[in-house]
Amino acid sequence: MHGMKSVSNVVLLFAALALSPQIFAETTPEAHKSKGDAAKGQQIATQVCAACHNPDGNSVIPTNPSLAGQHAEYITKQLENFKAQDGKPAERESPVMGAMVATLSAEDMKNLGAYYAQQTSRSGGAKDKSMAQQGEKIYRGGNLESGLPACASCHSPNGVGIPPNYPRLAGQHSEYTAAQLRAFRTDQRTKDPNHEMHMIASRMSEREIQAVSEFISGLR
Ligand code: HEC
Ligand code: HEC
Repeated sequence: MHGMKSVSNVVLLFAALALSPQIFAETTPEAHKSKGDAAKGQQIATQVCAACHNPDGNSVIPTNPSLAGQHAEYITKQLENFKAQDGKPAERESPVMGAMVATLSAEDMKNLGAYYAQQTSRSGGAKDKSMAQQGEKIYRGGNLESGLPACASCHSPNGVGIPPNYPRLAGQHSEYTAAQLRAFRTDQRTKDPNHEMHMIASRMSEREIQAVSEFISGLR
C-alpha cells in the first residue's frame, strides 16, 4: 500500500516538473510587499500542483493535503519552509515538496497562497464515528493528565484556524493530519525544539493522534 502511494507520487512529481518554466515569476522588490495575485497563482496551481492537490486544492489522495480555504500566509510560509537554503536543510523536510518549491520565487509563493485561500473546502466527513467522538474530547478539552492543551484554543472551535499563524485544520484528510502530528515529534517538520506543535505532538499517544485526526476530518 505504502509503496504504491509513493510510486504514484513520484510519477506525478516528474509530470509536474516537466512543465514549462515560463509560468514562474521573477522575484521583484515589490513582491515582498504585495498581497499576491490569485490569477497568477491559479496558472501554477492548475499546471503544476493539480496532479497531487487537485485544480481547486481539494486533494482526493489522503496522503496529500487539501489546500482549499487554507490561509494565504500559512501556505506561503509552508512553501518557504520546504525550501533548502544556504546549504542548510529545509525547515520542513519533504522530498516531493522540496523538489516542487525549488523553482518557485517568493512572488509565486504569495500568488499560490492567494489562489488557494479563495477556494472552497469540500470535506468528505469523518468515517469512524466512535473514533471521532474520542477525538472531539481531545480537540475541545485536551488531556489534563499529560498536560495536552485543547486544539480549539489555537485552531478555533470549528477548526478554521486563526490567520496568519494558526492554520485551518477543518476537513483535512485524517491520514495527512496524523502524519504531520508524528512529524512534529521529530525534526522532520520543525527544527525548533520549542515549537508549540513539537511539544504538543510529543505529549500525544498514537491512539490520541488517530482519534483527533478522525474528528478533524469531519469538521467544517
Ligand atoms: C507529486 C505530488 C505533489 C505535487 C505535484 C505537489 N505537491 Fe504539495 N504536497 C504533496 C505532499 C505529499 C505533501 C505533504 C508533505 C509533508 O508530508 O510534509 C504536500 C504538502 C504541501 C503543502 C503543505 C500544506 C499544509 O497544510 O501544511 C503545500 C502548501 C503544498 N503542498 C503546495 C503545493 C504547491 C503550491 C504545488 C505546486 C507548485 C504542489 N504542492 C505540488 C504532494 C505534492
Ligand atoms: C498553542 C497553539 C496551538 C495549539 C494549542 C495547537 N496547535 Fe496545532 N499548530 C499551531 C501552529 C502555530 C501551527 C503552524 C505550524 C507551522 O507554521 O508549521 C500548527 C499546525 C498544526 C498542524 C499542521 C497543519 C497542516 O496543514 O499541516 C496540525 C495537524 C495541528 N497543528 C494539529 C493540532 C492538534 C491536533 C492540536 C491539539 C492536540 C493542536 N494542533 C494544538 C499551534 C497550536
